[in-house]
Amino acid sequence: MCCLYRISGMRDQILKVLKKEGHVSGEQLAKKFSISRTAIWKHIKELRKMGYEIESHPRYGYLYVKDTDLLAPEEITTDLGTHVMGSRVLHRKEVTSTQDIVDKLARVGVEEGLVIIAEEQTKGRGRRGRTWVSPAKDGIYISLLLRPNLKPLHIIQIPLVAGLALVRAIELVVPLHPTIKWPNDVCIGNRKVAGILTEVNCDIDEVRYIVLGLGINVNTKLAILPEQVRPIATSLAEECKQPVSRVNLIRQFLVEFEKVYGLFLTSGFHEIGEQWKKYDTTIGSRVKVMEGAKEIEGQALDIDVDGFLIVKSDDGKIKRIISADVTSRN
Ligand code: BTN
Repeated sequence: MCCLYRISGMRDQILKVLKKEGHVSGEQLAKKFSISRTAIWKHIKELRKMGYEIESHPRYGYLYVKDTDLLAPEEITTDLGTHVMGSRVLHRKEVTSTQDIVDKLARVGVEEGLVIIAEEQTKGRGRRGRTWVSPAKDGIYISLLLRPNLKPLHIIQIPLVAGLALVRAIELVVPLHPTIKWPNDVCIGNRKVAGILTEVNCDIDEVRYIVLGLGINVNTKLAILPEQVRPIATSLAEECKQPVSRVNLIRQFLVEFEKVYGLFLTSGFHEIGEQWKKYDTTIGSRVKVMEGAKEIEGQALDIDVDGFLIVKSDDGKIKRIISADVTSRN
């Protein structure tokens, strides 16, 4: 089922007043917006239907009860301050994968910056053909449409750009120190809290568009994750011992991503790479690299100017790894 929340300008205004003022009577609202009390009441009913908790008291009027962390587009976009990222946000209750929706819209020419947010994915996918378990409500599952003027050679840098934006956003929203495992697993300690998937539509010499997907365990209860991932996964709420606002995190990510992506497109990867290394835990460690069926053990030395991982394998050879599963051994 698809549920697209599009709030009217008036409902948006009413919501803003309720959030700011505490108790407000229907009469005050009606006067403020020059509409009838019945019209106000209808908007309140709509807002409740969308999931906002609004109490009404016969004497004091309406009261916005609490932040319900609704991923309604207006919650994401109001006063966001970005130019492109999140210029259009669609929220859906259940999808196969947010990647599919963005891909479909990209094919009909939708502009860069489109964001699809889902409460639940039935076929969430991860890197290298894996499933991304996407239970309802507590996680963030979003995909973003990018149309960079980029040579295909540089696509590999996009997930690193996104990883940097994501760790920065996490740091700004919760008191935690996220790290990145090359290329783009975001971890707290040695447990994965978020993953990034980059799917590309390109020609030999031109990128048509990129669908950038983010899966973040925010308030996810570990018990509902499949048994095999539980020992290596965590959630932000689990780590900071309190619920975390998904709305704030998505907003902060869009802001950080627009900055980092902008810098990348104008100045290249060098500065991004330096910043990225501050969060990296792979460089300097012993690693096991799985490139399909090929397995290499050795020492991760660095990432190069293109974002490839440089590994000195145990037979002394220097390898440039473009895409692989990497496990740190120390
Ligand atoms: C990884 O393997 O680490 C990447 C996981 C990416 C999951 C996200 S959730 C939103 C978007 N839709 C998907 O189907 N996958 C990505």
